[in-house]
Amino acid sequence: MANFFTRTLLEWHENSNTRTMPWKGEKDPYKIWLSEIILQQTKVEQGLKYYEKFIIEFPTLQDLARAKDTRIFKMWEGLGYYNRCKNMLETARKLTAAGGQFPGQYAEILGLKGVGSYTAAAIASFAYDLPYAVVDGNVNRILSRFFGIEIPIDSGIGKKEFGELAQKLLDKKNPALYNQAIMDFGATVCKPKLALCAQCPLEERCIARKINRVHMLPVKEKKIISTNRQLVYYIFEYRKKVLVTQRTGGEIWNNLFEFFLVEQEKELQLTPARIARYLQHLLPKHLYSINFISKLYTQKLTHQNIKANFVSIVLEQRLLLPGYRWVNATELNKLPFPALINDFLQNDKMHFIFDK
Ligand code: ADE
Repeated sequence: MANFFTRTLLEWHENSNTRTMPWKGEKDPYKIWLSEIILQQTKVEQGLKYYEKFIIEFPTLQDLARAKDTRIFKMWEGLGYYNRCKNMLETARKLTAAGGQFPGQYAEILGLKGVGSYTAAAIASFAYDLPYAVVDGNVNRILSRFFGIEIPIDSGIGKKEFGELAQKLLDKKNPALYNQAIMDFGATVCKPKLALCAQCPLEERCIARKINRVHMLPVKEKKIISTNRQLVYYIFEYRKKVLVTQRTGGEIWNNLFEFFLVEQEKELQLTPARIARYLQHLLPKHLYSINFISKLYTQKLTHQNIKANFVSIVLEQRLLLPGYRWVNATELNKLPFPALINDFLQNDKMHFIFDK
């Protein structure tokens, strides 16, 4: 471990107790796996309380495997990317059924659903001290800047180059320490927008710093293109109950619950006349009244900007729709919803009739 980069990074980590995290120094592969799944698309500050909640309620893989789906999804609420949660449950059940041992080899860990090369390297190094370097956006950013590499990180050749370089720089004797150090360094010093170059121990040999390209690196080939979506949620209320359904299919918010959804082609002002025109396909006019139309709620996902209005409709008669169920206020509170719907429920639930 003679090279400047690795040595300096480890020294920095030893001398900066910037972040204390409950999974640091943890050796239980189940807990490491859980923390890494949570942290896949989530910042440490946000992920922390979820991790702690999960560890208290499900201290072992077997506890998690036994849990009800809805309970787990409810606990995952607000974290987003719900496929992580679905894969996690599936994996816990599979491993438990197969004897309950967490796999101890990199290739087996990589074979678990929802585990990619980054997460596999993190688990293999943290739990078993196996020499696998983590490579993610943070690591790519640090390496592209320090070594002045202009190859796009999302190209085939870029993935190969950055992967090989990361593996070469890994301290093979201390892979857990090194991986934790590079993660922390990317999150606190070599940050995407506000890189703290003046405090950086690698600064003197950093190519990007030398040629003033810190904020131009790393280079990406593909830009994220976002689509705009306009949703209208109809909340049908009848005798202290509302109509909900569980989302399925490969789209967003898989497995979460929602109200009756109509997606609009264009962004339209939602008026009572427009609502009546839509509902005429579903219900005779004398069987419902419009109780409340919400303000516009928004949520930004990685590839989508979502706007939604919520309309509360009070029915005179029960409506039967395939795939839907009627729930009361207590049941509603236990169901997992997308953040957008929770946001609305928090702000506007007082307008409902069924909750009174
Ligand atoms: N991001 C992903 N895994 C992490 C970890 N173990 N510590 C800090 N940030 C992380």
